Amino acid sequence: MEPQHGDRPHLPGPSLYPIGFAAGVACILVGLIVNPTLIAPIGAVIAIIFGFLWARDATKDYRQEPAAIEPERREPAAPTAPPIPAHQGEAAMPEPEPGERFPRSKFLEASTLGLGAVIGGLVTVPVVGFMVVPAFKGQGYPDVDLGPLENFPEGKWLVTTFYQHPETGNVSRRTAYIRNNGSLNGKPSFTIISNRCAHLGCPVQPNGPVQPDQTKFFKGELGKRVRYVPAIPAGGFGCPCHGGQYDSEGNRTAGPPVRALDRYEFSIINGHLVLGKPFSVSHVDGTGKNAEIHAYKLAGPGQHVDGWQQVFYPIQPPH
Ligand code: FES
Repeated sequence: MEPQHGDRPHLPGPSLYPIGFAAGVACILVGLIVNPTLIAPIGAVIAIIFGFLWARDATKDYRQEPAAIEPERREPAAPTAPPIPAHQGEAAMPEPEPGERFPRSKFLEASTLGLGAVIGGLVTVPVVGFMVVPAFKGQGYPDVDLGPLENFPEGKWLVTTFYQHPETGNVSRRTAYIRNNGSLNGKPSFTIISNRCAHLGCPVQPNGPVQPDQTKFFKGELGKRVRYVPAIPAGGFGCPCHGGQYDSEGNRTAGPPVRALDRYEFSIINGHLVLGKPFSVSHVDGTGKNAEIHAYKLAGPGQHVDGWQQVFYPIQPPH
């Protein structure tokens, strides 16, 4: 039996646009983890383009010009088949009234779909926002006041413990090995080495005596204390996990680490040493204030930052 006019399906045909839209959303989610500044925006662009095409495709039935609808209204005067009585099947949708530009059935379909989309958006967007946004708030490396310069005697190493995010408490406690190198061209010079091993991230230790009886403190932000413990790392630094060894400039000398120890940027503000962002180092030539530091963007433990090996670590997870 020929489908009656009122039974004509209004659903759009099969389309690849939803798949493209889903790929865009997947790209956004992956990008949020591996590269929020490049891959996530690319995913957003893909999702927007395919979402627009999908919506356009799904609603094209409703966007017909009146001229395109008119012929359908001009039914033949003498139907070739007798009409089906209402009791023999589903009730057919009523024919558009003469002069009716937009059939009620389509209006109801479009408004139901539109309302569903609005409700879906109202429910989904806040939930996704509350799930994703907190992971990006309060991240990064804010400046940390490590105390006045006189707390750092020239030429001495201090095992310095501080709070990267004082408001979060002990989970943000970090340790750096700091040496005041004196002045260079009239400016203070410091060596600030991270204690994170360049193999798998274990905390490295000074290869030499530590003097806890000479510990000093400085009251930092939110009353959190910065602690200084003098040390004499004559043998450099060593990692207890797998035996990685570094010299006193942080250069790898033995074991599985793939590069030198990371370092921190620093600045002097109002006579205080202020810690900045960490960065990675392939190796250091020279020592102290005359050292030439081969610096790179911060990489994860185990990641090469130079040489041909770095091509095997193309994706840098966010820190
Ligand atoms: S984590 Fe330091 S040597 Fe393995």
